[in-house]
Amino acid sequence: MDTVNVYGEYRDNLQSILDEIVGRIESHNDEFFKKTGDKLHEHLIARVKSEESMAEKCVRRGFEPTPYNALHELTDSIGIRIVCSFVDDVYENVRLLKSYPDIEVMIEKDYIKHAKPNGYRSYHMIIKVKTPFEDVLGNTPGEYFAEIQLRTIAMDSWASLEHKMKYKKNIPNSDLIVAELKRCADELAACDVSMQTIRNLIKEG
Ligand code: GTP
Ligand code: MG
Repeated sequence: MDTVNVYGEYRDNLQSILDEIVGRIESHNDEFFKKTGDKLHEHLIARVKSEESMAEKCVRRGFEPTPYNALHELTDSIGIRIVCSFVDDVYENVRLLKSYPDIEVMIEKDYIKHAKPNGYRSYHMIIKVKTPFEDVLGNTPGEYFAEIQLRTIAMDSWASLEHKMKYKKNIPNSDLIVAELKRCADELAACDVSMQTIRNLIKEG
């Protein structure tokens, strides 16, 4: 396979920036757990989008696969998915992220309050992070984009299964399958509401 080099000289910065943000979120979670016995998030996954995927996405979006387009036109080279036990925790994590002075929220999509037509639920943010590194515009300190997805365990399990099944197109009864997937998403969302209510009852105890 050809070695794709769509991030150019900025590639190593992306991993450092990702590691720093994740470290911050994790240590906040640890402190919160020590204080309260509860976790602010259940787990998270983080990745720098592979150069192959990024080059492919640039082309798909009509851009040349260059560092400028990968890091300035597209905004998900750095991706973090924060998976929470309860819906309220999602919004608590959103608040936490917004409280960092070096993080600016550029785009926010609340697919929890406004689920996608297929039933997908998640809270999405595109953030801009001030970093000590040079960015693709030549500024030091530089700014880098990252995509943050926040969801509950139930939303995450649905998204993961739906994503797997998306690749199997041209299956018979696809209208039925779409409707059934939507029904499952809505049932899981109802469970999330119930679980949040139960937790509130226990807390009020
Ligand atoms: P891209 O889809 O990344 O090109 O950007 P967009 O502008 O369409 O943003 P959007 O917020 O719709 O989706 C960004 C990401 O959210 C996707 O790359 C997926 O990881 C996730 N996502 C969005 N919609 C769905 C969905 O219907 N199902 C699943 N499984 N994931 C989704
Ligand atoms: Mg999309």
